[in-house]
Amino acid sequence: MSERTRTRPAGHTSAPTNSRLLRINGTLDPHVHLRGLEWSHKGTFASETAAALAGGYCAVFDMPNTPPATVNETSLQRKLIDLGAQARCDYKAWLGADPKRDPNPQELQQLGQQVCGLKLYCGETTGTLLIDRTLMESYIAAWSGPGPIGLHAEGDMIQHFIEAVARYGKVGHICHIPTKAAVEQLQAAKEAGVKLTAGVSPHHLFLTDRDLDALGPKAVMKPPLGQSTDRDALWEGLRSGVIDMVETDHAPHTWEEKQQHKPAFGVAGLDTCLPLMLTAASEGRIGYDLLPTILADAPRAVFGLAAADAESYVLLDPKSRWTITAENLHTDCGWSPFEGVSMTGRVVETVLRGRTVFKDSEVLAEPGFGQPL
Ligand code: NCD
Ligand code: ZN
Ligand code: ZN
Repeated sequence: MSERTRTRPAGHTSAPTNSRLLRINGTLDPHVHLRGLEWSHKGTFASETAAALAGGYCAVFDMPNTPPATVNETSLQRKLIDLGAQARCDYKAWLGADPKRDPNPQELQQLGQQVCGLKLYCGETTGTLLIDRTLMESYIAAWSGPGPIGLHAEGDMIQHFIEAVARYGKVGHICHIPTKAAVEQLQAAKEAGVKLTAGVSPHHLFLTDRDLDALGPKAVMKPPLGQSTDRDALWEGLRSGVIDMVETDHAPHTWEEKQQHKPAFGVAGLDTCLPLMLTAASEGRIGYDLLPTILADAPRAVFGLAAADAESYVLLDPKSRWTITAENLHTDCGWSPFEGVSMTGRVVETVLRGRTVFKDSEVLAEPGFGQPL
């Protein structure tokens, strides 16, 4: 990649608290599906935010596709009440574009003040929020922010989204960017001045379609795993800054649901993302100095949060060696595509607003400790 296209500012190293530990302030995962509500059999706001704290995250943004879908004032308030009562980490919710009706700009403006962004489902996945290209355009035209418009899509629909975001002068965020082609489209659009950001998910960084045979339903998600050329382009995009951040797309399903003839799309990610990124850093695939940017500073800036304060942070041991097992996960679903994978790097302690909320493998925050952002 040429110097001209490098958009990433020089990384900064956060001050280690002693000679061994790394510290990242204000970790934020802007893309999780916590379940709860009508899907509490898959996981609850309490269980999945425990996985967030165990994974080193101070805050998460919850996606709108869990029923009842977050598409209006009533469903948003219902979710925020349950999140308020149960969340152990800080949180905010996404609003979803409603496939059943045209957008109402006034309503969107009012709801926009309460959410982190508007999510458009323009490709098949879990839930019932799929919209067509016409409705995608209408929602992009109608959205007034302040958060960005997030996109779930594959293939040509990503380029259609980019063009519509450019045409209407809006701010777009490509979720879980999956392919080399999409990275190239993103890079070209950024160079042309389109207001776009993107996140990449750990499963797309660490797995490819070659893992499907061994992992079976544990490797089934949307967008699907790509080829090694896609994975390599995602790493290069992350290193160069064309891809702005890492987002887990934590999407737990019960093991029973994964074993059906058509497995549910989605994999858990909160417990394992930071250890995976530390392991990648230990192997030289990414600099340790970039981790605060892609796991905290960039998502905070893109979603309009204040810079991280010094009271909320994660301490990481970059040298600790261990192996991911089902038993050491905190997500309710109890499985991960990364079971059996050796890690170099561990979450030691998570501190939220001055209080230790995870330490020595134990989640110490009670449900309701989390605050709305
Ligand atoms: C997600 C889910 O299960 O909620 N599934 C997935 O495969 N990623 C939804 C989504 O992000 O598309
Ligand atoms: Zn998605
Ligand atoms: Zn998702």
